[in-house]
Amino acid sequence: MYAALKSIGAYVPEKVLTNKDFESMVDTTDEWITKRTGIKERHIAADDELTSDMGVEAAKVAISRAGLEIDDIDMIVCATISPDYFCMPSTACVIASKLGRSNVTAFDISAACTGFIYALAVAKAFIESGMKKNVLIIGAEKLSAIVDYTDRTTCVLFGDGAGAAVISATEDKSEAITDIHISADGNYGDLLMTPGCGVKNPCSEKVVEEKLATMKMRGNETFKIAVRTLTSDVVNILQDNGIEAKDIKHFIPHQANYRIIKAVGDALQLAPEQVVLTVGKYGNTSSASIPMAMNDIWESGRLQQGDTMLLDAFGGGLTWGSALLPFAGKSAN
Ligand code: UT7
Repeated sequence: MYAALKSIGAYVPEKVLTNKDFESMVDTTDEWITKRTGIKERHIAADDELTSDMGVEAAKVAISRAGLEIDDIDMIVCATISPDYFCMPSTACVIASKLGRSNVTAFDISAACTGFIYALAVAKAFIESGMKKNVLIIGAEKLSAIVDYTDRTTCVLFGDGAGAAVISATEDKSEAITDIHISADGNYGDLLMTPGCGVKNPCSEKVVEEKLATMKMRGNETFKIAVRTLTSDVVNILQDNGIEAKDIKHFIPHQANYRIIKAVGDALQLAPEQVVLTVGKYGNTSSASIPMAMNDIWESGRLQQGDTMLLDAFGGGLTWGSALLPFAGKSAN
């Protein structure tokens, strides 16, 4: 039995925060943000809109596009670093409940921006082992809830949103997810972290005053490791599978920074039309960025059944990963 990606869906919250908006919030300019990151705007969830709510909306779209009902789903995996609740219940359990599905396997994955690729690997393993048939994987983030809007080095980067995909069992090898690499190096954990409200620095007045429950990043060091690691990772997955970069129809990288994406794309000598770019309009939405980008090209008709996709992500942990797979769902038109 093989595992195939049968559908994609996404949810983008309504409110937009532009670079210009940030000019009155912190010491920054539209020019700096655009030049250093490629970001022009990002979407921000409403106050009462939770990570699970966005995950539910994306999930409904993905389930319907797969031609399934919620009761056909036998496992729900949610990748997030901005869960509804600290520790429990998991956001996957909340999503299952809001979708009206009980008695289902449901759990979260914490692999930061690489979360969607980790979730894809877990779904593939469960399906290939015969344990599950239809796995719903979700990347959902309300990063605006864990951003320090007085820190110009991080606040301009992040946005909110969700993406979801249905991974199903198939006997057709041409539909199968070809390969997935996932990796981590915890020695670099302090480059990108939320130091507060865990067991090490339990929630306290000090944690609140010093904003320790918000994201802290040593951006420039992270940038250099990201470019190096992502490039070697995609080169390795292509070599391992005897595939040349020119045969990739869509390179769908994590959308953290246009310059990182360009550096990796150039190293692979990819043509601009092979590279999917949504960082300009969504910013960095962590685990949601790859499925949101995949959904964008599906809805615009660019992603067609059978197209070869190369996914690539890097994030806190540090974690990184890549995946090579055909799009096994129906085309939008
Ligand atoms: O998604 C998970 C993985 N995340 C990433 O991969 C992100 C990786 N890092 C990056 O994308 C980039 O490092 C950033 C976009 C975060 C920063 O760009 P950079 O070119 O690496 O800038 P920098 O950190 O070296 O800072 C250069 C200057 C500094 O000023 P000084 O010290 O040279 O005077 C910063 O204080 O830019 C300053 N700066 C800003 N200036 C205006 C930092 N943020 C801003 C800002 N507006 N928003």
